[in-house]
Amino acid sequence: MTQEELFKTLTAHAKEYGFIFQSSEIYDGLGAVYDYGQMGVELKNNIKKYWWEAMVHLNENIVGIDSAIFMHPKVWEASGHLSAFNDPLIDNRDSKKRYRADVLIEDYMAKLEERMNKEVEKGRRRFGEAFDEEQFRTTNPNVLRNKAKWDEVNTRMVEALNSDNLAELKQIIMDCEIACPISGTRNWTDVRQFNLMFSTQLGTISEEASTIYLRPETAQGIFVNFLNVQKSARMKVPFGIAQIGKAFRNEIVARQFIFRMREFEQMEMQFFVRPGSELEWFEKWKEARLAWYKALGLGDEKYRYHDHDKLAHYANAATDIEFEFPFGFKELEGIHSRTDFDLAQHQQFSGRKMQYFDPETGESYVPYVVETSIGLDRTFLAILSAAYCEEKLENGEERVVLRIPPAIAPVKLAVLPLVRKDSLPEKAREIMNELKYDFNCQYDEKDSIGRRYRRQDAIGTPFCITIDHDTLEDNCVTIRYRDTMEQERVPIVSLRSIMEKKVSLRSLLEKL
Ligand code: GAP
Repeated sequence: MTQEELFKTLTAHAKEYGFIFQSSEIYDGLGAVYDYGQMGVELKNNIKKYWWEAMVHLNENIVGIDSAIFMHPKVWEASGHLSAFNDPLIDNRDSKKRYRADVLIEDYMAKLEERMNKEVEKGRRRFGEAFDEEQFRTTNPNVLRNKAKWDEVNTRMVEALNSDNLAELKQIIMDCEIACPISGTRNWTDVRQFNLMFSTQLGTISEEASTIYLRPETAQGIFVNFLNVQKSARMKVPFGIAQIGKAFRNEIVARQFIFRMREFEQMEMQFFVRPGSELEWFEKWKEARLAWYKALGLGDEKYRYHDHDKLAHYANAATDIEFEFPFGFKELEGIHSRTDFDLAQHQQFSGRKMQYFDPETGESYVPYVVETSIGLDRTFLAILSAAYCEEKLENGEERVVLRIPPAIAPVKLAVLPLVRKDSLPEKAREIMNELKYDFNCQYDEKDSIGRRYRRQDAIGTPFCITIDHDTLEDNCVTIRYRDTMEQERVPIVSLRSIMEKKVSLRSLLEKL
């Protein structure tokens, strides 16, 4: 199966088993807006819980808030979103399709990278054991030619984006002979800037101030509450404020399922530090955040850092944690050292002092900020795509299994009476009624046991508890393991403690 086919299959699976539905599907859907179904909401809540516990509960110097989506319009002037939260867009006159100019160029660069990788694979096959990839990459003429082109395009694009040179962005598209994927033509309009914020009207304030915005990030709710939290919680720098919530962006290139949505959820943390110490904290948070992902056990090789070439004017360091999705390595989380930009801007626009008196140095200053900003939906997609697995079994049958880490699996265990008679359902209900207070359990007595196992595999339930005739005699049940399909007989009285060890968030948190 190609990666593209895998992605299509995954999307269909997510719908079939109640993870994700297209929003307003009966009206043919709404572009790049999705609903989470009965399994999806459980998985999403578990990811949030894992993040919240890791960030807020495990760190004494981080507290959480939940700020409103609507904010005073001045917030977006101060933050720069009103003037600069733009995407450079270009239209193809023949297909009437609109694209982000930088994405078209990045897709072109990805093709160059693909060509280089293909050449390397050819070399590997040709030279076998003796193959030295580094030497090959630095000497093979085809690789070198593509690399030189990649470097040239990258440098031009970064410079054009840094200087808002829209004419140059178009020129790159023309020079690289990039064609519209739909019409196949190069009949492009000029590149224009397009603001990504959704606006709406607020009826109760004066006319001129009545346009308000749906927040495009949760971070500003943290900045404007900096003093409230610092004072009410008596926080001392360095300290952090965390928040999980919805954000909205009128994305033009909305594609790849829940990777780029118009309504999505972020989990952000702003860490306020003494000026001059921000780069040290930046490095610490880079490491801590990567460790958070790795503890999930999806495969360490699936992550990489991508340091920004194009630094925002207020940032002095920025990196992305990227994940290898079926469509390639893409951003999951941004870690940014934002200096004192946001607090200083709010200080200027609100006229309120955004300063902190440092009792250790006896000085007052506007703290610097290191931000960790993670897309919850992207993390969900990363987990789902890494977990999805089609397997051929020894008996020739096939199964689809979601190898979701047990601690965040939507359903932790299924309780299954072997048959629907002989008092087995009653015994199973008894066990279920005991366990449901601690774990999200599912009871199922319909169909053969094999089919029930398959259904649980498909939603990623890590453990099935089977109640058989012997259970009535020996008070033991069989645990069937999702990943290995092995079975183990255990006493009912120990079930709770066995499960607790296997599915508690603590098993992940202790790795951090
Ligand atoms: N406060 C900083 C900030 O918002 P960002 O890089 O624009 O930074 C942070 O966004 C994260 O939010 C991204 O790494 C990504 O995971 C997620 N994100 C951004 N736009 C998104 C979208 N349209 N759909 C889904 N997730 C998105």
